[in-house]
Amino acid sequence: MADLGLGKETTKDLTRIERIGAHSHIRGLGLDDALEPREVSQGMVGQTGARRAAGIVYKMIKEGKIAGRAILLAGQPGTGKTAVAMGLAQALGEGTPFTTIAGSEIFSLEMSKTEAMTQAFRRSIGVRIMEETEIIEGEVVEVQVDTPAGGGAKTGRITLCTTEMETVYDLGAKMIEALQKEKVSAGDVITIDKASGKISKLGRSFTRSRDYDAMGPQTRFVQCPEGELQKRKETVHVVSLHEIDVINSRQQGFLALFAGDTGEIKGEVREQIDMKVAEWREEGKATVVPGVLFIDEVHMLDIECFSWLNRALESDLAPVLIMATNRGMAQIRGTAYKSPHGIPIDLLDRLMIISTTPYAEAEVRRILQIRCEEEDVEMSDDALELLTKIGMEASLRYAIHMIMAASLVAHKRKAGEVDVQDIKRVYSLFVDVKRSTQFLVEYQQEFMFNELGGDDMEEEEEEEEEEEGEKAAVGEGREGAADMAED
Ligand SMILES: Nc1ncnc2c1ncn2[C@@H]1O[C@H](COP(=O)(O)OP(=O)(O)O)[C@@H](O)[C@H]1O
Ligand SMILES: [Mg+2]
Repeated sequence: MADLGLGKETTKDLTRIERIGAHSHIRGLGLDDALEPREVSQGMVGQTGARRAAGIVYKMIKEGKIAGRAILLAGQPGTGKTAVAMGLAQALGEGTPFTTIAGSEIFSLEMSKTEAMTQAFRRSIGVRIMEETEIIEGEVVEVQVDTPAGGGAKTGRITLCTTEMETVYDLGAKMIEALQKEKVSAGDVITIDKASGKISKLGRSFTRSRDYDAMGPQTRFVQCPEGELQKRKETVHVVSLHEIDVINSRQQGFLALFAGDTGEIKGEVREQIDMKVAEWREEGKATVVPGVLFIDEVHMLDIECFSWLNRALESDLAPVLIMATNRGMAQIRGTAYKSPHGIPIDLLDRLMIISTTPYAEAEVRRILQIRCEEEDVEMSDDALELLTKIGMEASLRYAIHMIMAASLVAHKRKAGEVDVQDIKRVYSLFVDVKRSTQFLVEYQQEFMFNELGGDDMEEEEEEEEEEEGEKAAVGEGREGAADMAED
């Protein structure tokens, strides 16, 4: 293993920072033991069909059964597609790699599209590596430190024992410092990692419990270890294939992981690593943990990315692919063709599609309430009622965004609680998409680069809106308008 440079400390805590502020109230899928959705649980409200389906996906991932399969979450904006994916990520927990990217990110990285896709794929595949480390574990009999008279480095000795043996070890300056930092004294039971020199205190030995009755109640007492002082201990790390790639690509080095600036990785490096991982698997040193790659706003990918995905899903080392889109019939980027969800038919054919549906008023109210708690905002019942109305008429997201703004407005008038007047104020200060669109239609002449109303007007819904007036705009406008907002 050492030949791949996988040190103990190198890759343990490296997870990508995810942009999940809007979904921080989601703590899981909110399912019971039978994987049936609870009405409100773990921050999740309603959307039971999609959550039930996600529960089945969860089960299959846990059992390692659907690597290489792909799932599409399809539905209108603000119906909880991203929320369901985040809930799934939470439910799977830390042991399963979960990578989130937005379709458009592929184009903004300083590398080719296929390289970016490859990296996202390999980030989502974990390798669980079993490693044996040597440790010394024993009860401290005595620590002696000599401080040389003329200054210079300290030296010392530590005597450790088990129920069967006792040994004296020489100490260097670094170890002495570590022991002092951990406040190790006679009677402590400690382990020392032989490779890294890391010292951990397990507790106080029972044999000393009587001498030290003045110790605090937190003191943990443990048995004096048995047998040999030196032991082998099995440790397990999960690293992603991508992390192994980066560490081993010469020109990058593992510092690149911290900089996030990994550049392109050579094909040969990846081949070698795949071979090495296959070897470890055969020797029983490692297992592969297929994780999840979530591509949000997947309609932003172009035809090349889609065809790459088609092929990549068939490889041995493929994660579970979950995608989300809010598009109906849409153009496949990079072509002149339209297709359902803007995804080519051959890829669509491989997908299991989960659809999300718009929320009922009670659900919107509950979600807003949860967001208030999450953002630490007190709100009166009347205000929540009004906000719910706005959530239904405008959009759930707009209503969610109003919470913080309204709280600041309330704060300004020195009120501890958001009231109807604060909601009204924010509603007048910040227009939602629908009002903004209406405004644009009315005053289009005043704006630069105005393309509305010409022959090339694409959105059919908007024409309808104009004809049918206000009422239709509320229901119909939602999709078209929010589509604009997404871009
Ligand atoms: N069922 C739900 N339970 C709790 N919060 C939800 C639910 N559905 C959506 N939300 C929240 O509403 C907001 C909009 O939902 P989001 O998942 O971003 O919609 P989409 O991805 O479908 O456009 C987010 O803040 C999300 O966390
Ligand atoms: Mg989304």
